[in-house]
Amino acid sequence: MVKFNYIHHACFLLEDGTDAIIFDPFLDGNPGKVQVKDIKVSHVLVTHAHGDHLGSAYEIVRKNNALFISTAEVANAAAEAGCETHSMHLGGTYHYSFGKVRVTPAFHGSGIAGGHACGFIVDFHGTTVYYSGDTCLFSDMKLLGELEKIDYAILPIGDNFTMGPSDAALAVEFLGVKKVIPIHYNTWPVIAQDPEKFKQEVEAKGKAKVFIVAPGTSLELK
Ligand code: NI
Ligand code: MN
Repeated sequence: MVKFNYIHHACFLLEDGTDAIIFDPFLDGNPGKVQVKDIKVSHVLVTHAHGDHLGSAYEIVRKNNALFISTAEVANAAAEAGCETHSMHLGGTYHYSFGKVRVTPAFHGSGIAGGHACGFIVDFHGTTVYYSGDTCLFSDMKLLGELEKIDYAILPIGDNFTMGPSDAALAVEFLGVKKVIPIHYNTWPVIAQDPEKFKQEVEAKGKAKVFIVAPGTSLELK
């Protein structure tokens, strides 16, 4: 059984009882109030180096003897900080112990000179999740939906820095995905959103279901 464990903002874990991986581990300053010492993971996936995504990644990687996975420029900076890293880049796939990762484009700053923000399509022990990272809506999400059979899409809805709810609802259509989890909202007033409105907008189209996961809780991915 694979679980989506939501800390807050864009920070979550995928777990299957024996293995856990974390995404964009922003902990210090996150209203989710989870500490580095509570995180036990084998891999840390980082979409870009903005502080609300890179977060405590270096510390978590070093403490867990974990592997830091990101685009080359962000991974190189992590390697310089003493992390074990695996560099990837847009369009690349690689098989890890937990399953396959495909790196997808994201239209956003990388937070590092010369870098590029990304998203990930991750097959974690048989469940495929698309986490777009911070991005605007883009129509090639249709292509991503053709390339991979995505079970769950994890999309930002906060607006201001990323897609807002209506654009994210269109992303759901482009991806052709049936199950969606909204993130990257209500962390600060500037990205305040009502996820119930997003849920209504998506579900009114009759093709997908939205799972609102409260920070500090988890969802079984079926
Ligand atoms: Ni960002
Ligand atoms: Mn962000």
